[in-house]
Amino acid sequence: MTDQSPAPAVMEFLLSRRSRPAKLLQGPAPDRAALTPILTAAARTPDHGKLVPWRFVVLETAALRRLGDLVASCGAASGRSDEDIAKARACYDSSPLAVVVIEAPKPSDKIPEVEQTYSAGAVCLALLNAALASGWGANWLTGWPVFDRHFVEAGLGLAASERVAGIIHIGTAETAPPDRPRPDLAEITTWMDA
Ligand SMILES: Cc1cc2nc3c(=O)[nH]c(=O)nc-3n(C[C@H](O)[C@H](O)[C@H](O)COP(=O)(O)O)c2cc1C
Repeated sequence: MTDQSPAPAVMEFLLSRRSRPAKLLQGPAPDRAALTPILTAAARTPDHGKLVPWRFVVLETAALRRLGDLVASCGAASGRSDEDIAKARACYDSSPLAVVVIEAPKPSDKIPEVEQTYSAGAVCLALLNAALASGWGANWLTGWPVFDRHFVEAGLGLAASERVAGIIHIGTAETAPPDRPRPDLAEITTWMDA
């Protein structure tokens, strides 16, 4: 702690933060001006080699509804059940706003692709946390459509080399859900003192 003051409010946030289920999210959602600092915070993420192996697509209402229809046609084309299709399209049909975090790997002799994947995941969490810390409800979802190449290439404009790391839905949640059980630190931590 030499060059930086403690930020207890940030620690308090990090120790209590939790997502709001996407099905509870409704409008209002952040407008472009309110979303910009949230995206800026997300882009301030560790990135080995400064490759910027990720990008954002912001899905506003009309795009979300278009994609709900595309989920239905992709699901039918790949033989999914009505239940699977209805579940997957529900969040596109009801979400007030979503940000797709796209992993866009860059060729590099030095930086392994898996590190670019980790960085894209870190961007998702930074975006989720920035939205929550700004007072919005938010949830990181994927679901089978993000693994459907027609859905992501025709619907979201991904290149063949790109993948969806996460879709962060952002809006207003009237209530906070009960917290989920969190990992037992003793079970996941080894203190190595020699
Ligand atoms: C890569 C990834 C994909 C996820 N996809 C879904 C999903 O499709 N549906 C779902 O209910 N939860 C999904 N989750 C889980 C939720 O985002 C989240 O873990 C859960 O709501 C609790 O989050 P919290 O620790 O912020 O409270 C996903 C999580 C990750 C990391």
